[in-house]
Amino acid sequence: MGIDATGAMLAEARRLVARENVRNVGWHQGDAYALPFADGTFDIVSCRFAFHHLEEPARAFAEMVRVARPSGRIVLSDAFASDDPAKAAAFNAMERHRDPSTVEFRPLAFLVGLYAIVGLPEPELRFYQVPAERERVLAMAFPEGGDRAGLRAMLDASVEGDTMGLGARWDGDTMRFAYRLVRTFFAVKR
Ligand SMILES: C[S@@+](CC[C@H](N)C(=O)[O-])C[C@H]1O[C@@H](n2cnc3c(N)ncnc32)[C@H](O)[C@@H]1O
Repeated sequence: MGIDATGAMLAEARRLVARENVRNVGWHQGDAYALPFADGTFDIVSCRFAFHHLEEPARAFAEMVRVARPSGRIVLSDAFASDDPAKAAAFNAMERHRDPSTVEFRPLAFLVGLYAIVGLPEPELRFYQVPAERERVLAMAFPEGGDRAGLRAMLDASVEGDTMGLGARWDGDTMRFAYRLVRTFFAVKR
């Protein structure tokens, strides 16, 4: 089962599984804070790239744990912000401009801490990066007021001193950076 609040995202998910000829997936349009499933339903409950859209991530995480079966697995993937509050704030300002539905990219410790809030030990962590190139990011952005020039300026200004913590750098005329992501997972013991 897959769930998302947005019909367009579910349509994309349906297209993807059809292309891959996957037949054993169902889709629900719904809310991460109120999953329409009974307690202990799933072996694995995962969420990718959505927690930075949530005002109350701990509440959504508790819902993920609720619908996992005893000894099920909880997997959470998202990008995380720098531990340096100034860099995190600059990154979040850019991301909110790029996509106004962004609430906040939190530091790694916040994501890991969600497990402690629901009484689970620290999860295992896997780190990876998603490389990005400024003009490709701009082409896919929907900034407030269509302000791509402002978004470009924010990104360019981050190179000197790496002020967003994204490792932004010039590669000739091309500006590159990378999102830092973590996949946290833990087998729930209840
Ligand atoms: C960046 S997209 C990631 C989509 C997908 N999970 C993936 O990995 O490609 C973030 C998604 O979170 C969804 N979302 C945000 N708040 C939500 C909520 N409260 N309940 C369910 N989905 C939500 C949005 O509709 C959006 O499709």
